Amino acid sequence: MNAGATFQAFTRSGKRGERLMATVALIAGAGAGLYPLGDVSEVEEPETRWGWPSAALLTWQQAGHRVVYLARHGALGDIPPHLVNYRANIAALAACEVDSVIALNGVGAIRPDLAPGSLIIPDQLVDYTWGRPHTVFDAEREEVEYIDFTEPYDKDLRSDLIEAGRSASLQLTAGATYGVTQGPRLETAAEIDRLERDGCDVVGMTSMPEAALARECGLSYASCCIVMNAAAGRGDGSIHAEIGAHMDAGMQAAASLFAEFLQRL
Ligand code: HPA
Repeated sequence: MNAGATFQAFTRSGKRGERLMATVALIAGAGAGLYPLGDVSEVEEPETRWGWPSAALLTWQQAGHRVVYLARHGALGDIPPHLVNYRANIAALAACEVDSVIALNGVGAIRPDLAPGSLIIPDQLVDYTWGRPHTVFDAEREEVEYIDFTEPYDKDLRSDLIEAGRSASLQLTAGATYGVTQGPRLETAAEIDRLERDGCDVVGMTSMPEAALARECGLSYASCCIVMNAAAGRGDGSIHAEIGAHMDAGMQAAASLFAEFLQRL
């Protein structure tokens, strides 16, 4: 928490009290056109040791908190998952002293009960990406921190998101394993079968190395997955048509979840 800023608010018991103002980062994926969700008061693009973030960081106030928004795929959505500068993105957010990071990730469903348009707060991941700069410890003779990644997503932040989803009556699944593939191509049916045997429930291309870099930088980080489609070999029609059909509803649900999360913070 940024301990400095407070504001007056009614507590749940109805008493007027001081609420801490938090700074929450929102990393949005595909369909980022829905954002920003407030009046932007600051636009900054900090250069980091690893270069520039995908886009300018936009800041707005929402529910008494400060939101710092970053479009992972760039302002025009033209940076594919394997070319995102994840290190610059996370370093830029760390420089803004954010208290927590919520990442939106579009995914395909491997499990048949995970409906397109619904949300998932994953608790585990399997990393199938390769060749992406994946650590901030990239200099020789620098002290390396071997981060504990047993739980890749922050437990408390996940709980807060799950409670917010329940409070807002959203269709949300608490807990799933996210298989992170390299892309940009989608998977073969046999690859999806293999991911299922590995224990993956959903497949997407963006949670790694982002989640690990956030941990290396000491940021509390959780993912909100938006189910866009049935994974390769698991649906009836075209994957692209399905993504097009469910993207807007999924992004609206994610925006509602985020708004409720901030209200309850
Ligand atoms: N595979 C990988 N990434 C994705 C998918 C998928 O089916 N859907 C949305 N992002």
